[in-house]
Amino acid sequence: MYNLLKGKKGIIFGALDPQSIAWKTAERAHEEGATFVLTNAPAAMRMGSIDVLAKKTNSTVIPADATSIEDLQNLVEKAQDILGGKLDFVLHSIGMSVNVRKKKSYTDLNYDFSVKGWDVSALSFHKVMSVLYNKKAMNEWGSIIALTYMAAQRVFPDYNDMADNKAYLESIARSFGYYFGKDFKVRVNTISQSPTVTTAGKGVKGLNGFLNYADKMAPLGNASALECADYTISMFSDLTKKVTLQNLFHDGGFSNVGMSTEVMDIFSKESE
Ligand SMILES: NC(=O)c1ccc[n+]([C@@H]2O[C@H](COP(=O)([O-])OP(=O)(O)OC[C@H]3O[C@@H](n4cnc5c(N)ncnc54)[C@H](O)[C@@H]3O)[C@@H](O)[C@H]2O)c1
Repeated sequence: MYNLLKGKKGIIFGALDPQSIAWKTAERAHEEGATFVLTNAPAAMRMGSIDVLAKKTNSTVIPADATSIEDLQNLVEKAQDILGGKLDFVLHSIGMSVNVRKKKSYTDLNYDFSVKGWDVSALSFHKVMSVLYNKKAMNEWGSIIALTYMAAQRVFPDYNDMADNKAYLESIARSFGYYFGKDFKVRVNTISQSPTVTTAGKGVKGLNGFLNYADKMAPLGNASALECADYTISMFSDLTKKVTLQNLFHDGGFSNVGMSTEVMDIFSKESE
């Protein structure tokens, strides 16, 4: 361990179970010397095991629905009371599509479901930052990260309306990041992670196909949840102070590869 977050305070959204990227990030943040508050939707408190993580990392859990401004205001106020001051880092690790859950196809969306999924997966990032900004809750050189997926840039059919939500999320990072940078010297970025086996990941139809294909295309192979946590820690540390308004690919190089020899071999055999 490197003490990269020694003395830093933060809020981590989205740790549901030990597979969650946010769970791994909380464990790594604790190891690197940070103190933080954990939060998740009230419903997730019943489904997951966040209390185990809280005990392990000496942190407090404050439930908050990330679509509710009232919940977010309460969270940010209480987190500062508990941690004893302003925040240095915030992780938004939240995603959910009702259309995916209800198996609606992209060409036949239920728009009430779309609005709900967009609010949870994308607009919530604006709401979180708006509360942090208006309460002046971030320290100078603080860092805010949200997690995203490459379907925001390229077509992955079964990612459904989450692709549109991620495109919106990435745009919010740039737009709000401008104001956070100018007014508070706080950086805002998104990390675009490889497909990963988690509760949210498993909701995507054909995840295994996605996962194996990406792994064979990426020169370094897929990035794991723990590796994503490590990258996020580096983005919370003082070693990345001038990185902002970026969508940062953390995918073993997948996003820049047109063809790999492994995938080529599969198709060459088929045409023999
Ligand atoms: N798993 C993948 O393949 C993958 C790839 C790239 C990006 N991501 C992104 O990583 C992030 C974390 O997902 P994960 O894969 O760790 O899965 P996960 O299911 O462990 O985490 C998703 C979290 O969102 C929370 N959430 C849902 N609705 C909420 C609400 N209204 N308020 C507050 N929290 C709410 C859930 O309770 C859960 O903890 C998501 O943004 C996801 O889209 C995942």
